[in-house]
Amino acid sequence: MAQLQNKHILLGITGGIAAYKAPDLVRRLREQGAEVRVVMTDSAKAFVTPLSLQAVSGFTVSDDLLDPTAEAAMGHIELARWADIILVAPATANTIARITHGFADDLLSTLVLASKAPVVIAPAMNQQMWAATSVQENIETLLNRGVQMIGPESGEQACGDVGYGRMSDPTQIVQALIEKQPKTPQTWQGKTFVITAGPTREAIDPVRYISNHSSGKMGYALAEAAAHAGANVILVSGPTQLATPAGVQRIDVETAEQMLNAVQQQLQQCDVFIGCAAVSDYRIAEIASQKIKKEQSDQPPQLKLVQNPDILQQVASSEKPPFTVGFAAETENLKANALRKLERKQLKMIVANDVSQTGLGFNSDSNNAIIFSQDSEQSLPTMSKHDMAIAIIDAIAKRYFDNTNPEIRAN
Ligand code: PMT
Repeated sequence: MAQLQNKHILLGITGGIAAYKAPDLVRRLREQGAEVRVVMTDSAKAFVTPLSLQAVSGFTVSDDLLDPTAEAAMGHIELARWADIILVAPATANTIARITHGFADDLLSTLVLASKAPVVIAPAMNQQMWAATSVQENIETLLNRGVQMIGPESGEQACGDVGYGRMSDPTQIVQALIEKQPKTPQTWQGKTFVITAGPTREAIDPVRYISNHSSGKMGYALAEAAAHAGANVILVSGPTQLATPAGVQRIDVETAEQMLNAVQQQLQQCDVFIGCAAVSDYRIAEIASQKIKKEQSDQPPQLKLVQNPDILQQVASSEKPPFTVGFAAETENLKANALRKLERKQLKMIVANDVSQTGLGFNSDSNNAIIFSQDSEQSLPTMSKHDMAIAIIDAIAKRYFDNTNPEIRAN
């Protein structure tokens, strides 16, 4: 089984003779299911060509902090956020010193500073250099900061010396990387989540519809976090541009009624329901069968709306309701409105987000929210939707598995 499935590995190649092993390393990482993007220092290019690394990774190699074309494709901050792991292999004495001292004058050192991803180094250098006090002090500093190290190995070196300093072989590096991965928390093993995400679309005529700004990012992040925590996840999604998270079953719908239908079909096996979709509260009473033409009348058309079913409310009031979690997207009176929805829709929890703030909520990568239950309140400060999803799934677990709460135990 591929043990680095869907891991985003940023491979930093620096200028040592061991750089010739980098294409093999990329191949072996990809064999384990990882997606690899390569960043090279200038001196690395003396040992291996960007073209061969592009061929084996499937992506253009990044090598310049100030290249506008590369920045337009995937900017360095985006690349720093993309990475799940930064692997520097080979890591020369020079690069190790630069990372230790926080340099940011080339792409690789900048990415190390700009990323929250764990950093793993595979040192490679002459044995005398490896033994040098400055190198050892730098290594100690990095290890104390949580940087992880693979190798180096002892043996005959390219220069003829014998001793520690050889980069570990690609197979050893990949194996060590797999072993260093945190084991998937299996909190939700055997439980099924049904999660709605994205907007709905309510047709006006064959070419027009009512919708909203939901991108699906929050709901997809929740699906990913729940699947990562061991749950079976069914994602009922309105139209989005997003890829289905690994291990998640996705059902595509357009309208609120289709979403309700799809959710109801999954309810039997559902332990936890999260309504994250921005469901249109109204739909058009009568959808025009042909495109509405301006010439048809002097007056603008009068669109009659009817109310859509409330999916969340129907789930929460079903005969054997799952643990039901709603969202509240508010532009004012966040707490009061969210608590009203918690009460009215008989929810176990509600995640209230203020969608009036630019850069948060709808169609953004970050969010800021408060989780309310009947008797608790937890603030989630501004963070990525990825991190927020993990926090929400954790908060649900605390309630769901709380055996001291009789109301929850009934689930
Ligand atoms: O998709 P993103 O761009 O990442 O943006 C995320 C988000 C802002 C859409 C998300 O964080 C969010 O707030 N989702 C809920 C949006 C919403 O419709 O809120 P509401 O307050 O109008 O609805 C309250 C709850 O009832 C929600 O759980 C909603 O899914 C549910 N609902 C609403 C109407 C309806 N007819 N059926 C429902 O199930």
